[in-house]
Amino acid sequence: MAAVDKYTKTAVTLHWLIALFITANVILAIGAGYVPDADVRPMIDLHKSLGITVLGLFIARVLWRLTHKPPPLPAAYRPLEALAAHAAHLALYALILALPVTGWIHDSAWSAAASHPMKLFWIIPWFRLSFITGLDPASKAYVHTLFGHIHTYLSYALYGVLGAHVLGALKHQFFDKHPEIQRMWL
Ligand code: HEM
Repeated sequence: MAAVDKYTKTAVTLHWLIALFITANVILAIGAGYVPDADVRPMIDLHKSLGITVLGLFIARVLWRLTHKPPPLPAAYRPLEALAAHAAHLALYALILALPVTGWIHDSAWSAAASHPMKLFWIIPWFRLSFITGLDPASKAYVHTLFGHIHTYLSYALYGVLGAHVLGALKHQFFDKHPEIQRMWL
């Protein structure tokens, strides 16, 4: 087989870590609706910890990408496929940033935030956003509800874009027989 243009090892590691943590976060958030009450809080605490970690990994990913050119898309892609792939990548970047940020704003506006300090993975003390925690109670309740809705709608958008991204990659790999997964593998 001809040599495959690959992403760097750092880009590959960040890609799969972000994919793993986002998948875990969706399972935790949805799963929290189906478990006994005693398990809900630890699941949501883990959700917040993974979400803040994704934000950190996202920043690392963007900095890496700005300083390390990704490999070009395979020449065999039709122009429309290349456009769709780029559009999905751009939308994924936007969602990977917007989901943690809206979750963090939603949580910072929680009326019980002061009595439930955030700790990443139950170890590292973490901060709420002071421009939200400092709001009056009525504004906080409004922001809490609004950003809870935005967070939920963004998660629906994530399912759509992620589905298109994964199906596109699988189509190239198995129908078109391009070494697609190898590009994003160590
Ligand atoms: C990778 C980043 C994240 C993803 C993919 C994600 C995804 C989700 C999803 C799918 C839901 C359930 C929405 C619904 O169906 O109503 C949810 C709920 C929630 N998320 Fe996130 N989230 C992320 C980051 C965060 C962060 C950073 C925080 C807070 C610091 C956070 C706080 C919450 C809270 C409090 C809920 C509501 C849980 C409940 O029902 O009580 N999320 N998130």
